[in-house]
Amino acid sequence: MTTTIPQQPTPASAGPKQALLEASGVIMRFGGLTAVRDVSLTVNGGEIVGLIGPNGAGKTTFFNCLTGLYVPTEGTVSYRGTVLPPKPHLVTQAGIARTFQNIRLFANMTVLENVLVGRHTRTREGLFSAIVRGPGFHRAERASRERAMELLEFTGLAAKADHLARNLPYGEQRKLEIARALASEPGLLLLDEPTAGMNPQETRATEELVFAIRDQGIAVLVIEHDMRFIFNLCDRVAVLVQGEKLVEGSSEVVQNDERVIAAYLGEPFEGTPQSAPEAAPADAPESAPAGAPDDDEAPENDEQQENDK
Ligand SMILES: Nc1ncnc2c1ncn2[C@@H]1O[C@H](COP(=O)(O)OP(=O)(O)OP(=O)(O)O)[C@@H](O)[C@H]1O
Ligand SMILES: [Mg+2]
Repeated sequence: MTTTIPQQPTPASAGPKQALLEASGVIMRFGGLTAVRDVSLTVNGGEIVGLIGPNGAGKTTFFNCLTGLYVPTEGTVSYRGTVLPPKPHLVTQAGIARTFQNIRLFANMTVLENVLVGRHTRTREGLFSAIVRGPGFHRAERASRERAMELLEFTGLAAKADHLARNLPYGEQRKLEIARALASEPGLLLLDEPTAGMNPQETRATEELVFAIRDQGIAVLVIEHDMRFIFNLCDRVAVLVQGEKLVEGSSEVVQNDERVIAAYLGEPFEGTPQSAPEAAPADAPESAPAGAPDDDEAPENDEQQENDK
């Protein structure tokens, strides 16, 4: 895996400490169930922020509110000072990309094609150009392929560019989701359990990958149950319990907070993989509570993989 994304004009880099994402008073109700209760969270440029909490705490629901998959019952989500419309494609266009807890890839497309799909919000060639297939179209297509290959190099998947996505091992499918998200040239990347189903080596490699992404000026908000991963990686961690933000602070503050220990960690974190919470072992690919609905809406396309449940 290389550790730099080659030069690309991105809308990405915000100065350190400049607020990128500002979620304010977000509430999400499903009938009688309030899954997210008045949660406010800021992610600044250059930051890696963690979002942790027990199964069913509302973490994925909160991501869905941030990315326009759900329209929050109350509250606002702003990116770079502008309130985002709750429409996924407009959120992506604004500069926020995400991966899904339940992997969503185009199973019967190649690895490269999956990344190319992620570029569509950044390509200017319209329908007319695609039909006529003039020089502008071919130039744009070539540039997109080059960029997609750079991202596959960056995520360590270049050698598998021509493989079908469904033939990748689980850990590589998660990496491919990250490559596809990066293809939209985001300023903020949201990762929902990026190491679920990975072995310890893959998890460490993902940690390096997230640092490398941040070093390119892309801020990261990450949900994970692997506490070693979270506390190694994050500048700041917010803890959700029953839809409410219980605590927010540095890794050190959070891992020693008695309320967090009582509600989630079970015991003080000791920095070993064994001390991750029992509720969600790092090798459990699906940690949603039994009977929980899918974490978001229907797949974008019939071809998308249903390997998540
Ligand atoms: N579309 C929906 N309709 C009804 N209830 C929902 C919906 N989406 C989520 N919920 C409920 O909201 C609550 C929060 O779920 P969510 O998936 O956000 O939790 P989570 O913190 O991501 O959990 P996990 O760590 O298991 O992924 C759960 O009780 C869940 O059943
Ligand atoms: Mg979740």
